[in-house]
Parts: sequence; structure tokens; C-alpha cells
Amino acid sequence: MEKTFLMVKPDGVQRNLIGDIVSRFEAKGFKLAGAKLMTISTELAEKHYAEHKERPFFGELVEFITSGPVFAMAWEGENVIATAREMMGKTNPTEALPGTIRGDYGMTVGKNIIHGSDSAESAERELALFFKAEELIDYMKQDATWIY
Ligand code: TYD
Ligand code: MG
Repeated sequence: MEKTFLMVKPDGVQRNLIGDIVSRFEAKGFKLAGAKLMTISTELAEKHYAEHKERPFFGELVEFITSGPVFAMAWEGENVIATAREMMGKTNPTEALPGTIRGDYGMTVGKNIIHGSDSAESAERELALFFKAEELIDYMKQDATWIY
């Protein structure tokens, strides 16, 4: 099943939005395969955002993403990569529609609450950067008498 890497950025953690964001993906029907609260090193930030190395905002981006804890997550489900991007909304919160995470909570492009992989290749690369294989849990929702 398809997996993606999502991350509540430092602004989302500081603003107590972890629960709301997790809720949205759970309610949509996706399955959480891994999660951790962590602080990103400069080295990891530079690897994660390597595609933006030459952009003028790269320094600020690395500084921001390492400025406080993030909540890193692996989510699983059909078309989860593209669907999560839709649920996040456009990169610039001023363009993100209401009902999307960035549209509902973000104000500036530099602090836009959430990261999500933009393709299958990015998802594979980013999941490997943030999670060890044993931190991604493969499980089925149970058909148990106590779930009704
Ligand atoms: P990008 O990969 O283009 O956006 P997305 O997060 O939607 O995949 O950019 C990565 C992050 O860089 C983005 O979430 C916020 C930051 N950024 C800026 O600070 N200024 C900018 O002009 C752009 C395009 C991005
Ligand atoms: Mg991106």
C-alpha cells in the first residue's frame, strides 16, 4: 500500500495543532504507520530540503525547521501521497483554500504548518531519512468483538 511522509512543522507543534492534523488523516480513512516527536538536526534539514539548496529562502527554511520539535509521521492508504497534498492545501497559505490545513491555520509561506511528500520518489526518500525500517509498523485493523 502507498505510504507518504507528513510532518507537523515547528509552528504547528507550538500552536498545538498535532491532534487536529492527526485527526484529519485518521477521519479521512488513512492508517498511521509511524510517528515521532523529534528535533531535526541541521544536517537532516539540509538533506530533506536538498532540492531547494539554491533558493533564496533555503537558509531561513533550514533555520525554521530546526527551531523546535516537529511531529514526523508515516501515513498509508490508497493515493495517500496526492490526497494528503490536497488536504494540506497550497504551499502559500494565502492561496490555500479554507478546509485545507494550510488554508485553515497558516498565514505565511515560511510558516505553513505541515510538510508532505510531493511524489512517490520523495515519499520513499523522505521516509528513509526520518524513519528506521522497524519504526514503520505493518498492521491490520482488527476484526475484534470489542470493536463495534
Ligand atoms: P516547496 O517544496 O515548494 O513547498 P511544499 O512544502 O508545498 O512542498 O517548499 C518547501 C518549503 O519551503 C515550503 O513549505 C515553505 C518554504 N518556502 C518558502 O519559505 N518560500 C518560498 O517562496 C517557497 C516556494 C517555499
Ligand atoms: Mg515540497
